[in-house]
Amino acid sequence: MLSQLDSLKTEALAALDAAQDEPALEAVRVNFLGKKGSVTALSQGMKDVPVEQKKEVGAKLNEVRTAITEGIDAKKLALQAAQDAKAVEGIDITLPGRPGAGLGALHPLTQIRDLAIRTLRRMGFALAEGPEIETEWHCFDALNTPADHPARNEKDTFYLPDGRLLRTHTSSVQIRTMEAAKTLPIRIIAPGSAYRRDEIDATHLSVFNQLEGLYVSQDVSLGDLKGTLEYFFREIFGAGTAVRFRPHFFPFTEPSFEIDVKLEAKGKDARWIEIAGCGMVDPAVFAEINKARGDNLFDPETTTGFAFGLGLDRLAMIMHGITDIRHLIENDVRFLQQFAA
Ligand code: DAH
Repeated sequence: MLSQLDSLKTEALAALDAAQDEPALEAVRVNFLGKKGSVTALSQGMKDVPVEQKKEVGAKLNEVRTAITEGIDAKKLALQAAQDAKAVEGIDITLPGRPGAGLGALHPLTQIRDLAIRTLRRMGFALAEGPEIETEWHCFDALNTPADHPARNEKDTFYLPDGRLLRTHTSSVQIRTMEAAKTLPIRIIAPGSAYRRDEIDATHLSVFNQLEGLYVSQDVSLGDLKGTLEYFFREIFGAGTAVRFRPHFFPFTEPSFEIDVKLEAKGKDARWIEIAGCGMVDPAVFAEINKARGDNLFDPETTTGFAFGLGLDRLAMIMHGITDIRHLIENDVRFLQQFAA
């Protein structure tokens, strides 16, 4: 049996040597080590080996099995290395790269969204999100927007056959967040798409991008709102930028404001440019949330908060002096390359 094993080993190593590809290698493995392989067959003869020889024969059997297994592994690596070498044959890796394709860069909208997120996260706002296909309740009712409000009109909003709609603003994420909240305070921002059935022109697209903010706690004041947003816009537009809060109306905040920043367009006098909407969360919103949750976490008597929303496309247009919003979605590299860092 010992000599049988020795010749099996020689035979197997020769077969390995001759194997030119992985299937051939696998065939060798099956022939020698497989269930019906010759090494396996011999090992079944162990039971007939006299006791005094068992140790020696057993050791030999192991030696042969190990030698074949290692031989297979080594040959496999060698075959793979040969294949790799063949794949790059004829490629001169010292040739210079092909000019012209250039380095990619982030889209100007992405750059501005990231800048806004970075700035607000430093102030403790966490990212939140909600669905773009919304219920009327999340988009309007819970935001204190009555059924006869013009924004709810079929002419202005994309409704689905089942009564849901494409959210007309990211303010619905305020509702989603308060519905799911476990405790206060809440301090979130939600960038995302919004949809309106607008006539497409230089300042309107039917899909655009907003950034929503919400801070709810026990003692949030109008001073917090002003301080936070003044700081935010000065981080974006520069430390000296004048920011003003102009009284306005939104159904879900009271009082409500529009925010203007004073900016110089190139070569022109500085002028006030409307940049965002904001206000103190209307207690009616808290009451509606409590009703939906079935608790009183947002007790309108003790809970206060502020919210804000701004258009990111508009922000990008103002910052870069872009005169037509459609440039932002046309993917013309001549336009986009101007914003490559
Ligand atoms: N949702 C408003 C819009 O799309 C913007 C807005 C105004 C958001 C005031 C707010 C807010 O959170 O407090 O025009």
